[in-house]
Amino acid sequence: MHLVVDQVEKSYEGKKVLRNISFHVDSHEFICILGHSGCGKSTLLNLIAGFLQPDRGKITVNGESIKGPSKSRGVVFQEHALFPWFKVIDNVAFGPEVQGRDKEEAREIARKYLKLVGLEEYADHQPDQLSGGMKQRVGIARALASDPDILLMDEPFGALDVLTRDLMQKELLRIWLELRPSVLFITHSINEALSLADRILVMKHGEVAEVFEIDMERPRDKHRADFADLVSRIEKLLTD
Ligand SMILES: Nc1ncnc2c1ncn2[C@@H]1O[C@H](COP(=O)(O)OP(=O)(O)O)[C@@H](O)[C@H]1O
Ligand SMILES: [Mg+2]
Repeated sequence: MHLVVDQVEKSYEGKKVLRNISFHVDSHEFICILGHSGCGKSTLLNLIAGFLQPDRGKITVNGESIKGPSKSRGVVFQEHALFPWFKVIDNVAFGPEVQGRDKEEAREIARKYLKLVGLEEYADHQPDQLSGGMKQRVGIARALASDPDILLMDEPFGALDVLTRDLMQKELLRIWLELRPSVLFITHSINEALSLADRILVMKHGEVAEVFEIDMERPRDKHRADFADLVSRIEKLLTD
């Protein structure tokens, strides 16, 4: 999988939100896009998901332009967006079923991914019966059930309490190491980006202001000097 974002621009009603964004994501990479609220992160993710089209520039996967949403790009939103009237397992089985699997086969796939996210025992619950963190786990299982090459995650843990968020970050890294998809993860938390990413793109004023290659081994220790040093460099970049 090779995703290329090449000189992409996007405006809403004449207001330019993204100007000249370029970067790439390769197989198995974990990339974070970090920036203040309103800087255009979700717009960028929606372009890559195929929900929006760029005004200028292009986005390609393995050389082919993105024309619309695809099962090869799984999306996880901040709000879990589960179907409230479906059981957990049927929320996860929905994608495989739409893709033509029969019901039992789709449920088999759903069970596999519910197990991976630690929710096999909640298969028959309704989404309303789950905590926020558990709903996000279902959202991840649902995205994975279509066997995507890349996971696009838009502040997926942004609404969770601090402890749950830390746990979900660890869980996501575990899943990423097991399945090795590429991940494009959006966040406005510097700590979160530094805990997760191979590479951090810092967005500012609709542009990629700076790219940080993070070669610290995982799990990363927030108290280490090199971690703290990166936090202050990125903080400075974002406040300048
Ligand atoms: N559909 C839309 N129509 C008009 N303006 C929009 C729309 N979506 C987002 N915007 C504006 O574009 C800017 C970037 O939004 P967004 O991509 O959601 O940023 P982020 O995800 O970084 O918070 C914001 O100023 C937002 O108000
Ligand atoms: Mg957003």
